Amino acid sequence: MTKRVRKAVLPVAGLGTRVLPGAKTTPKNMLNIFDRPILSYIVDEARAAGIEHFVFIVGRGQGAIEDYFDANPELETTLQTKGKTDILAEVLAELPKPGEMSFIRQMAPLGLGHAVWCARDVIGDEPFAVMLPDMLMAAPRAALAQAVDAYDKVGGNIVVVEPAPEGEAHKYGIVALDGREGRLNRMTGMVEKPPPGTEPSNLFISGRYILQPDIFDRLERQERGAGGEIQLTDAMARLMADQPFHALEYEGVTYDCGDKIGLLRANVAFALARPDMGEAARAAILALL
Ligand code: G1P
Repeated sequence: MTKRVRKAVLPVAGLGTRVLPGAKTTPKNMLNIFDRPILSYIVDEARAAGIEHFVFIVGRGQGAIEDYFDANPELETTLQTKGKTDILAEVLAELPKPGEMSFIRQMAPLGLGHAVWCARDVIGDEPFAVMLPDMLMAAPRAALAQAVDAYDKVGGNIVVVEPAPEGEAHKYGIVALDGREGRLNRMTGMVEKPPPGTEPSNLFISGRYILQPDIFDRLERQERGAGGEIQLTDAMARLMADQPFHALEYEGVTYDCGDKIGLLRANVAFALARPDMGEAARAAILALL
């Protein structure tokens, strides 16, 4: 019997170098996709997977994230007074229940592994999800929910993967599999940013994980890996000596919102998919072509 996955860690402290200058004063995961920040979609995806507590790992100057998920009495009163109750309802729908969110400062950008390690006390001794919010995933069943389904089936640790675009595998964490049959396969290894030509497969780690709390011991050593950073991939590779890891090729489409064109594609795709405004979005986009 596996323990339920109730908490998710969202490392958001990155500088957003690839989406500057827009991300200079707006945290990159607060950039809009159509009418809401990226993080709003990530929280929805997490909720669809049964997540009840959100642990944001933030950096300096990212107060906008906490403010977004907090009440804004002045705005709410103004909307109420003006009778804009439908807009007010949309604003209020974004608010978490009291106590559902924690915010931890990562005091230095030492890498993804370090960011996840910062959550150790809030996670405690239970399995948890990690979601990289740059990667926005459109899927009929939420990507993280697919990972939780896989976890309920095989337990251990789950890493969501997908085929890397031709020639780009060296930019990511890449997994090695013990045979490839169907979408869920046992892993035999993983490597962060392998030199071109040495990749053990074309499947890259695309940003959703279910991990056992034992990962924190493996991160404790603070060893530096690719790019001089404390890498989550290296700690997972160490944990794999003691616990099973499965790679899940999820069903859906990933948009890398840490990239200008990825952000644009996500904007278009999510606008088109909106039941209420998709038609208007389509007409507006076609008129530009
Ligand atoms: C991180 C992870 C990498 C993963 C990637 C997905 O790398 O370390 O394993 O494939 O996210 O975006 P980063 O993009 O922070 O270099």
